[in-house]
Amino acid sequence: MSSPIIAADRELRAKLCAIVTEKTGIQLPENKSTMIEGRLRKRIRAVGVPDIRTYLKMVFDDGHLQSELPHIIDVLTTNKTDFFREKAHFGFMEKHILPNHPATRSFKFWSAASSSGEEAYTAAMTFAEHAKRNPGFQYSILGTDISSTVVTKARQAVYTREELVDIPQSMQDQYMEMGHSSNGRELARIVQSLRDKVVFAQMNLTGPKYPVDRNMDVIFLRNVLIYFDEAMQKKVVSNIADHVRPGGYLFVGHSESAVVTDPRLTQCAAAAFRKEVQ
Ligand SMILES: C[S@@+](CC[C@H](N)C(=O)[O-])C[C@H]1O[C@@H](n2cnc3c(N)ncnc32)[C@H](O)[C@@H]1O
Repeated sequence: MSSPIIAADRELRAKLCAIVTEKTGIQLPENKSTMIEGRLRKRIRAVGVPDIRTYLKMVFDDGHLQSELPHIIDVLTTNKTDFFREKAHFGFMEKHILPNHPATRSFKFWSAASSSGEEAYTAAMTFAEHAKRNPGFQYSILGTDISSTVVTKARQAVYTREELVDIPQSMQDQYMEMGHSSNGRELARIVQSLRDKVVFAQMNLTGPKYPVDRNMDVIFLRNVLIYFDEAMQKKVVSNIADHVRPGGYLFVGHSESAVVTDPRLTQCAAAAFRKEVQ
């Protein structure tokens, strides 16, 4: 039989997982408790309490839930991303979508779990290259994420040299400004002309409504559905599909295709779907 202290600990941890799932859709099974504790450690230190138990008591019993929740969400989201991640999707846009876009209207792209901005800026570089070959091509990019920390990082658009590894050199030369941090580390910033094309905002995909235009030409919803349960995956895909214009496209992560069963969407390439024209 577990001691009352351990049982109380369990209860608090279960409460933490439940609230994170309720607010973000992210599933946190019990076997992830070491990961959860590891990720919360920095926050526990910053707050100045001795351990996770005291921290969770402070959060749930002493009324600090509202102020701590954004920090908890920040540390418990997985923000791994890269420039040109799943590169074939950018190739598909370049080859099959951009050439068919009518010159009469601006191309609208949404990175709907943008993390620190690499996906949105990769799209920006792809569109800037297309615009060089097609003068007059106009585009705008929206990036949204639930984590305020990554949204801030995305807006800053500053990356380490190692993070640039997948960006072709010619694009690095055109679209990145090189510099140094105060401690001499080599850093690169996306050039102003591309930054001007991208707007980042904090947004929860599990919310009932998205304050976003419903005429997106392309939405990337990649590598975020895996964190949700099946019902939430379906709900999010359906909500997102409402924002794809007829004839527009939705891309998901390579392991996420099976989740897309919305009847309005037809698969047209690996992890890529087209919305019916009507
Ligand atoms: C693994 S990253 C994927 C980034 C990028 N789409 C890619 O494929 O490289 C997943 C992102 O989803 C965000 N996320 C998790 N739950 C979310 C939610 N409910 N609403 C919006 N974003 C969420 C996380 O904060 C994280 O930045």
